[in-house]
Amino acid sequence: MKRKTIHVSQETGKFMFCLFFIFLPCCCHVCFSELSLDQTNTMIELSRFLNISDWNLPGSEMNPCSWNGVLCSGQDNGSVISISVSGFDISNSSFLPVVCKLKTLESLDVSNNSLSLIPDGFVTTCERLLGLKHLNLSSNKFSSSPSFRGFSKLVVLDFSYNSLSGKIPDYGFDGLVQLRSLNLSFNSLTGSVPVNLSKRLEKLEVSDNFLTGTIPEGIEDYQELTLIDLSDNQLVGSIPSSLGNLTKLESLILSNNKLSGSIPESLSRIQTLRRFAANRNHFTGVIPSGITKNLANLDLSFNNLNGSIPGDLLSQLKLVSVDLSSNQLVGWIPRSISPGLFRLRLGSNMLRGPVPSAAFESLQNLTYLEMENNRLTGHIPHAFGNLQSLNLLNLAMNEFTGILPLSFGNLTRLQVIKLQQNKLTGVIPDTIKLLINLLILDISWNSLSGSIPPSLSQLKTLSNMNLQGNHLSGTIPENIGDLKNLIELQLGDNQLSGRIPVMPPKLQISLNLSYNMFQGPIPASLFQLDRLEVLDLSNNNFSGEIPPSGSLISLRQLILSNNQLTGNMPRFTHNVLVNISGNPGIKSRNKDEVSIKRRPTGKSKLVMVVIFVCLGVLALVAGITTVIVLKLSRRFKGNNNMQVDPDEEGSTVLPEVIHGKLLTSNAIHRSNINFTKAVEAVGHPENALHQTMFWSYYRVVMPSGSSYLIKKLNTRDRVFQQASSEQLELELEMLGKLHHTNIMVPLAYVLYSEGCLLVYDFSHMYNLYDVLHNQTSDVVDWTSRYSIAVGIAQGISYLHGSKSSGRDPILLPDLSSKKIMLKSLTEPLVGDIELFKVIDPSKSNSSLSAVAGTIGYIPPEYAYTMRVTMAGNVYSFGVILLELLTGRPAVSEGRELAKWVQSHSSQQEQCNNILDVRVSKTSSVATKQMLRALSVALACINISPGARPKMKTVLRMLTRL
Ligand SMILES: *[C@@H]1O[C@H](CO)[C@@H](O)[C@H](O)[C@H]1NC(C)=O
Ligand SMILES: *[C@@H]1O[C@H](CO)[C@@H](O)[C@H](O)[C@H]1NC(C)=O
Ligand SMILES: *[C@@H]1O[C@H](CO)[C@@H](O)[C@H](O)[C@H]1NC(C)=O
Ligand SMILES: *[C@@H]1O[C@H](CO)[C@@H](O)[C@H](O)[C@H]1NC(C)=O
Repeated sequence: MKRKTIHVSQETGKFMFCLFFIFLPCCCHVCFSELSLDQTNTMIELSRFLNISDWNLPGSEMNPCSWNGVLCSGQDNGSVISISVSGFDISNSSFLPVVCKLKTLESLDVSNNSLSLIPDGFVTTCERLLGLKHLNLSSNKFSSSPSFRGFSKLVVLDFSYNSLSGKIPDYGFDGLVQLRSLNLSFNSLTGSVPVNLSKRLEKLEVSDNFLTGTIPEGIEDYQELTLIDLSDNQLVGSIPSSLGNLTKLESLILSNNKLSGSIPESLSRIQTLRRFAANRNHFTGVIPSGITKNLANLDLSFNNLNGSIPGDLLSQLKLVSVDLSSNQLVGWIPRSISPGLFRLRLGSNMLRGPVPSAAFESLQNLTYLEMENNRLTGHIPHAFGNLQSLNLLNLAMNEFTGILPLSFGNLTRLQVIKLQQNKLTGVIPDTIKLLINLLILDISWNSLSGSIPPSLSQLKTLSNMNLQGNHLSGTIPENIGDLKNLIELQLGDNQLSGRIPVMPPKLQISLNLSYNMFQGPIPASLFQLDRLEVLDLSNNNFSGEIPPSGSLISLRQLILSNNQLTGNMPRFTHNVLVNISGNPGIKSRNKDEVSIKRRPTGKSKLVMVVIFVCLGVLALVAGITTVIVLKLSRRFKGNNNMQVDPDEEGSTVLPEVIHGKLLTSNAIHRSNINFTKAVEAVGHPENALHQTMFWSYYRVVMPSGSSYLIKKLNTRDRVFQQASSEQLELELEMLGKLHHTNIMVPLAYVLYSEGCLLVYDFSHMYNLYDVLHNQTSDVVDWTSRYSIAVGIAQGISYLHGSKSSGRDPILLPDLSSKKIMLKSLTEPLVGDIELFKVIDPSKSNSSLSAVAGTIGYIPPEYAYTMRVTMAGNVYSFGVILLELLTGRPAVSEGRELAKWVQSHSSQQEQCNNILDVRVSKTSSVATKQMLRALSVALACINISPGARPKMKTVLRMLTRL
């Protein structure tokens, strides 16, 4: 098959070759441009400045019009009209004045480079260009700009994503009489919203700056405006009602400012307005009636709006999305809701009364419905069963009574259902088994009774189940272990009793059986959950001895208090908080052992390193990376004593090196690394350091005496690419070519009869997680944390690449603080970059796919999309940034840090409390920077992947702190 293809392409080649000669005479005319000698010379001059490979091919100087990014006009390509050098990583701007020697130039795009300076010559030559209409300078490092007054023909000026600072008027945009689009978003500009602009202006984007003052009254003079984006600034005052005179306005975005006053009714006069976002401001008063008459999207969330929701607000036919959450709205939910509505968020208000059942009968498109944290009463309408598109239903924290409607069984698309903290009664209906896509079921803190239906275990995709705080009785269904994807099970505060069955194997966040009526010995099977972090069996009647704890290798907290246990305290080789109070029969060796203290803290770094090397093995087991992705055919054998796989023990025949390759160009490493020694060394148990789901780690001393870190791929799992070692080698070689100070690149690889080894510098030994959370050293100060954050952002941006890098982005399926290695307290390295290349997601059939990564870092959308994305990496980075800012781990006590921060960051005062006080209290500068970094982190963990900034932008935002 392959040979045939080659054959065909050779034939085609010959054919093309002939054609070339046949048509040569007329081809000439097209190939060799009519570009004037003048312009040709200018282009050649430019090509020397720019070093773009395609522009410098031998012979290419014959026809600059064919160069990548160059556009010529006219049938005979008489003149250059457009040049785009976007994404070539250009940092030297001396080419800019040369460009403007092209008198015919109409469009210049230099976006996505590293330009920092606009040379004076650019203005003097370019402002003479009579045709220059489009100038795109976005995504560079410009910190100042000349006056553009002379560019009288400019129509579009994009200066977004730079480092411009100072007041806008100083930039002189006022002479641009033809300007229709001005984008200054994502800079550090101060002053007020510019007004002296061309009256032809259609788009004004100045979001994400430090603009102050009010929305100028005069803005109504810009009758052509279709888009106004003033979001993420510090604007005060109210929305001028004269905005209602802008008859062509389509989008008005005022989010995240300090605007106040009421929402002007005049906006409803704008027939073209489709999107109005005024969320996260200080708006007060009632929402005017008619405001949604023409809108598709309305966002007024996080304000202080009061009064009731106007009766016509939700009924307008063009509406797609309405968000009124986190205001002080009162009254009832309107009785009429538009049938096309896709998203409705009314959470955290003071809405009362029953849900208007009839209104929900025919909302075929409703996908997200959130009404949590109100005072809604009555029954959950049976009509909800008709919401066939519903993915998310959140009615938590209301006063709903009655039973769970049987019609819920119709909601087969439902992924998240949250009904906790209501007054629901009756039993959990058997129809719940029909919700085959359910991921999260939270019906805790109600008054549900009866037993847990065994059919629940048919919900194969379920990851979190919370039935805590009800009146459930009987036993736990015998087949609950069938919930193969369950990572959290909360059954506390019920009246459960009887035999405890084998639990779902992937439980990780928490298993809570506290405050029930269980008795007898603790089943040994509970102590075999090797991923579990919190086990709470307190306040039952368990008796007998505590089972051996050897398999609880991920445990952080064990709560056994108030039972009738006897015998000895469990011993752990790693940090576990144990509470066994209220068990009179437990022999305490000494008082301190009621709660095992964390390890003593070492003062100097030397001590820290020593501790790390000696105990690091244990610490790493404690913090073992638990990856929930794999559908393992056999349980992961995480042995505490760090033995290598049993099959390798006692093997006398040395495994054979199939192929080894040095990837580094460093001469010292090249002479040190010995493949045979590497292969031999991983066969010796004493060289093993630790093991994670994907890798086993070894320290290997080469014959030269230098140590190296070796990662061995646990290849037997079926998610690994088994297809071709050739492919794997290609990928590894590609990775070996990466050069960046913030990524951990393998120095060499070895394929041998039992798998694949990757060789690294041994100095990269401690990881960020341990340094931040294991408290073996002094508190890391803000300067170091900031430097670590910037370094990680640099590493990830590099991996994500740019157009000019000429490769696909390298994505990180499992990005967490444990994957960030530290060369020093200021130099992070992003590790495990190989993972994406060596696992094959299509081989995994678990619900979260091979995608998921580590709990606490997994973006919410992965549950739906099952795909690793750049936006997903940004989310995980956001969580790491939060760890640096709060000093808390990504998951603690069963709660995800990201969610905790999101729920505590709406108020400025609360933000201060989120920060790690050990660090933020050291100086007001630190506090200020940390608060700004917090807003970057919040942007990264945005629920909506599309709203998260790109990694390159995140980096820019961080360096601008
Ligand atoms: C031009 O780019 C190539 C790689 O694309 C590089 O090897 C070379 O050093 C560059 N030359 C200059 C003058 O920057
Ligand atoms: C603009 O709006 C104001 C009040 O909102 C109104 O009095 C005025 O007539 C309008 N001007 C124009 C030109 O429509
Ligand atoms: C529901 O959404 C679909 C697809 O977006 C759209 O075609 C349809 O008109 C919508 N239904 C209603 C009732 O608006
Ligand atoms: C929803 O479920 C109820 C009861 O389970 C059933 O009577 C009704 O026909 C279902 N509706 C739809 C639209 O499937």
